[in-house]
Amino acid sequence: MKILVLNGSPKRDKSDTMHITRAFLEGMRDAAPQEIHEIDVIDRHIEYCTGCFACKRNGGTCIYDDDMRAILDEILDSDLLLFSFPLYCYGMPAPLKALLDRTMPLSSMAMRKVGDRYEHVGQADFSRLRYMMICGCGFPNSRHNFEPAVAQFKQCFPCNHTILTIPESPMFNAPEAAVVTEPRLRLVRKSGKQYAETGEIDTSLLAEIGSPMIPEEQYAAIVNGGM
Ligand SMILES: Cc1cc2nc3c(=O)[nH]c(=O)nc-3n(C[C@H](O)[C@H](O)[C@H](O)COP(=O)(O)O)c2cc1C
Repeated sequence: MKILVLNGSPKRDKSDTMHITRAFLEGMRDAAPQEIHEIDVIDRHIEYCTGCFACKRNGGTCIYDDDMRAILDEILDSDLLLFSFPLYCYGMPAPLKALLDRTMPLSSMAMRKVGDRYEHVGQADFSRLRYMMICGCGFPNSRHNFEPAVAQFKQCFPCNHTILTIPESPMFNAPEAAVVTEPRLRLVRKSGKQYAETGEIDTSLLAEIGSPMIPEEQYAAIVNGGM
């Protein structure tokens, strides 16, 4: 499978979230060989969408000739788009959001009703794409935290999406926390294998991965004590 990893953390390979993403990809490789290409979004030149809609009327060419042209080609050449990002203000970091906005050329201005919502009609064929979101965050709580980012992802990619959210993510970069992070990464790896084999992850496994690694109060006390 051709996998395009969009690393939305400005910390690049030092990203807490990328520990989770790497474990997931290892699991996918346990099932079968994978062709993986990773983009550190922060390093790419991606102008902000101006909202001119020129791309939707001219067959799909943006007014900007920047790195997004090559990224759009890569997206269309992929089987799986994997968004790996830390939760920033309950959403995705700005550079990744800028990239998402610039996928406008993939659809035309025409709208059609699908169920009870409208969407733009594609002007490129991305029907085979599957979408994965892996999101880490700094607070210990998942509820009242991940919901806006999850809702946005589901709305943008209503079909073929899978979502992994993991609280207390800074612990993945703390060697002293290995006693709890290593078992969690093994679960993530298991989920990657399951996803590669079946296209899905058990709800119970998703819930286990999304639970705090140490009790919320203990995590908060450690964070507060270190200040
Ligand atoms: C600008 C900014 C906004 C953040 N917003 C949230 C948030 O809404 N909820 C949360 O739990 N953590 C938040 N965090 C913490 C990060 O999600 C956390 O540090 C994460 O582990 C960083 O992951 P990374 O190393 O992959 O970039 C925020 C951090 C920054 C810098």
